[in-house]
Amino acid sequence: MKGVLLAGGNGTRLLPLTKYMNKHLLPVGRHPMIAYGIHKLRQAGIEDIMLITGSKSVGLYAEYLENGRDFGVNLTYRVQEQAGGIAEALELAQGYIRPGEKFVVLLGDNLFQDELKPFIQKYMGQPPGTAMVLLSPTDRPHRYGVPVFAEDGSGKLLFIEEKPINPRSRQAVTGIYMYDDAVFDIISRIHPSERGELEITDVNNLYAADGRLMYDILQQWWCDAGTFESLQEAAAHMKDVLP
Ligand code: DAU
Repeated sequence: MKGVLLAGGNGTRLLPLTKYMNKHLLPVGRHPMIAYGIHKLRQAGIEDIMLITGSKSVGLYAEYLENGRDFGVNLTYRVQEQAGGIAEALELAQGYIRPGEKFVVLLGDNLFQDELKPFIQKYMGQPPGTAMVLLSPTDRPHRYGVPVFAEDGSGKLLFIEEKPINPRSRQAVTGIYMYDDAVFDIISRIHPSERGELEITDVNNLYAADGRLMYDILQQWWCDAGTFESLQEAAAHMKDVLP
């Protein structure tokens, strides 16, 4: 199985730090943020990883990670030239993923404690052409994608509302997604949102509309380290996670 680690975007909520440095190279504890996503994929047995980032710090990534050997992985790089959205970044993995192949997508600013392996095993048992998202309970659902659950016990999501003013649950859709190569056809069917981005939530909602979006729930700590407050929280949690 392959992993796709997304580390593009402008990181505007972390300005001025992100004026000179891509968000995912900022320190979290003893390591740059990106190290934790690589660790989580490696821990799940995923060695082939595509790292997608913007052009700003791509040389620094190459200096730090090289071809991934010291981290126990094989890295392939792609550059997303403009921050055109998470789904636009994901589209760059087309061709890297073989026909019918299942893979995991991680947003590089999502840090968490759960091991991915059991979730991946569950997803491997799902039919082709379906997707899985992982959820986490949150006190601030309005900051995230928020799921609306099917009430028939099917384990499916009916819909995801992106940053809703009146969230319908206290669960966040985390930046941990599982797809197969059918996702590239779905991405080709969506259009830029009002903020001009190809939204991953629009991708997931096309799966949901077809009854093809499953979910599971993280049991341990999860954080989107995209703000100063959450970056500090992440540093405290991750300080001893990696040697
Ligand atoms: O963290 C989970 C949330 O991530 C979800 O609940 C939301 O549904 C999802 O839309 C996303 O929301 P954010 O507002 O946090 O997304 P953000 O723009 O901060 O981007 C998150 C990651 O995606 C970040 O690690 C960099 C990557 N990214 C983002 C953009 C816009 C790219 O690689 N390229 C991009 O163009």
